[in-house]
Amino acid sequence: MPKPKRIFECQQCGAQSPKWLGRCTECAAWNSFSESTVGPAPAAAPGRGAFAGLTAAAGPVPLAEVEGLAEARTPCGVPEFDRVLGGGIVAGSAVLVGGDPGIGKSTLLLQVMQRLSRAGQKTLYVSGEESVQQIRMRSDRLGGPPPGLLVLPETDVTRILQALEKERPAAVVIDSVQTLYSADLSGAPGTVSQVREVSGRLVVHAKTHGVPLFLVGHVTKDGAIAGPRVLEHMVDTVLYFEGDGGHPYRMLRAVKNRFGSTNEVGVFAMGDGGLREVPNPSALFLSERPEGASGSAVFPCLEGTRTLLAEVQALVTPAAFASPQRTTSGVERNRVQILAALLERKAGLDLLGQDLFVNAVGGIRIAEPAADLALVAALASAFRDRPLPGTAVFFGEVGLAGEVRRVSRPDARLAEAAKLGFDRAYAPPGSAAAGPRGGKLQVTEVRDLRTLLDACDPG
Ligand code: TYD
Ligand code: MG
Repeated sequence: MPKPKRIFECQQCGAQSPKWLGRCTECAAWNSFSESTVGPAPAAAPGRGAFAGLTAAAGPVPLAEVEGLAEARTPCGVPEFDRVLGGGIVAGSAVLVGGDPGIGKSTLLLQVMQRLSRAGQKTLYVSGEESVQQIRMRSDRLGGPPPGLLVLPETDVTRILQALEKERPAAVVIDSVQTLYSADLSGAPGTVSQVREVSGRLVVHAKTHGVPLFLVGHVTKDGAIAGPRVLEHMVDTVLYFEGDGGHPYRMLRAVKNRFGSTNEVGVFAMGDGGLREVPNPSALFLSERPEGASGSAVFPCLEGTRTLLAEVQALVTPAAFASPQRTTSGVERNRVQILAALLERKAGLDLLGQDLFVNAVGGIRIAEPAADLALVAALASAFRDRPLPGTAVFFGEVGLAGEVRRVSRPDARLAEAAKLGFDRAYAPPGSAAAGPRGGKLQVTEVRDLRTLLDACDPG
């Protein structure tokens, strides 16, 4: 019998080397190599080898005669989840759900499986992390288990595939892919070769049987799904479940989607009875907004096809140390630095000797340059300690000459502001025509920083 071969494998990208390396030559990760052994290749039956993927016995077929899957989309009954998937669960699709520990991945997927089973489907929840009793306790918090929901505590992928063949469920959850192993490989669960192998076998099963597969994936310190990047290539859809531990709000974001847009987000709130959908996030994000406080501005931000009104807050205080601080949460620090410099140079606000603190409220993360105008308004208001007009929203990108530039979808932003009862919007030139007709929303077009500050705070 041939001896198993020792190799070293990068746990970040899956690169292999005959000797240990301190730094991966492929992905430049440090200290990422660990040893594994590659056993003799299993007897190669067609479509069954260690590297088997999708194979068709019949060989090439005319594409025109292949039936599309577009129609085979089932809404699971959790509308925010369906929206992020692109309108429902696609038969045979593999979906990877990543997120920090404790963010609510298991809760979300158990809720989705319960909905499907309540609608009469048979579903299977495979857990490599929790006992059936723990899952039962969680299920009781989520309204109790419906009859069609099966659970399987198992980490051996071969036995999971046997259970799938036997039970033929309509949807499967694997929680989590890092806990599974294949007995054909020697590495510990969670190593690159194991993750690649087990997910490969599960994905092939999903595709050949048309069963949607949901894989839970852990996230590493730097925010990537642990395991090889190839995992993200193997699946059809990658969703990230994010949120701020201190807030109940959670956002489900598609970062890859073969069956829909990657811009979609779903908003949930974690409560006693599990995750609740938030159909009107703007109202929620603004619900605790202080009245008449300086340093607070409302920004209509675009998240996929939806608009959310988010509050940005700024605090400006004389610097405590020689080098003033710029501290941000939920907005980019560099952007705040540039905007503070612009306020200094173009509008004569002496921010250089001040500590600046800027925060996007509710754990939301704002990356759009369109937030510039709101950030500038909040900073100026905080600096002058005078509140902005209470029912105004701000959007527009600010250029390095202090000019205000157009941004995408002014119509959607203005419509959301009007819907929530705002009566004024400060926006880039050319936006007024995009505003909703007949409402009380007044659009003030601002050309540059100075016009903005004069318009919203003439004092
Ligand atoms: P969980 O789904 O276990 O997270 P993950 O699988 O991403 O690690 O969720 C864990 C957190 O959610 C935990 O801190 C408890 C909280 N939670 C609630 O607040 N309400 C609930 O109804 C449930 C089921 C969980
Ligand atoms: Mg979990």
